Amino acid sequence: MATYDLSNRSAIVTGAGSGIGRAVALELARNGASVLVADLFAESAQKVTDEITAAGGTAKAFAGDVADYDVNVAMVAAAGELAPLKVAVNNAGIGGEAAPVADYSLDSWHKVIQVNLNAVFYGLKAQIPAMVAAGGGSIVNMASVLGSVGIAQSSAYVTAKHAVVGLTKNAALEYSAQGVRVNAVGPGFIQTPLVDANLSADVKAALAAQHAVGRLGQPAEVAALTAFLASDAASFVTGSYHLVDGGYAAH
Ligand code: NAI
Repeated sequence: MATYDLSNRSAIVTGAGSGIGRAVALELARNGASVLVADLFAESAQKVTDEITAAGGTAKAFAGDVADYDVNVAMVAAAGELAPLKVAVNNAGIGGEAAPVADYSLDSWHKVIQVNLNAVFYGLKAQIPAMVAAGGGSIVNMASVLGSVGIAQSSAYVTAKHAVVGLTKNAALEYSAQGVRVNAVGPGFIQTPLVDANLSADVKAALAAQHAVGRLGQPAEVAALTAFLASDAASFVTGSYHLVDGGYAAH
């Protein structure tokens, strides 16, 4: 049973081939949205698209790099072919290298800022005019709990996520009058390939203990909040940053 009514609209989800993006794409489709399942990897985008259609939903796979502005324009056009674009979740992101500031490589810095920050700006720039034309919409930018606190060895990631929170606020101020809401979500550490690939079992156990609930989060727990923000149930919610972090930032 659908929790929200997301029918008669398309939704772009970037980084939808894995982890949080996959869970968001499934949840938006379950609530009736026609989802553009966008990812760098065609195969993973197709796999999630197949999962959605097998469950009776509507989806289309899209392969491309969000760090390319033209790809964001193409995503908006592709989503518009499904239904009017009213939802976008700018979720694609990468971890980057682990090093203190003075040792952080220029290459990794630029790559993380390009994918985790500049691409969110590219997304907003392409999505907002289509949503204004569609009579309004809701954009959710996937920040992180690291959009409000730091963590050692991750300066580019932490910087990008803090900046996404600021960008979210500005876009919300500028487009609320035209019916476009823009919010940021701040997940704590979520059990996804991003975390599994980059962190040892010991580090994961230590991180789990830093969440008040004593465990890492699940992608579906982030998707539940994201679907709410995407829906008309969140009609008075804009310009804010919503933690879904199991109490990580509470101390
Ligand atoms: P993930 O690695 O499981 O999935 C990320 C997806 O994004 C992959 O399918 C990848 O192919 C895609 N992607 C990466 N770069 C791309 C690009 N340039 N263009 C298009 N697609 C691209 O990661 P996860 O954990 O699901 O993370 C999703 C988002 O949530 C990221 O923005 C991440 O920073 C954020 N986040 C994750 C947390 C976690 O603990 N897993 C915590 C807080 C935020």
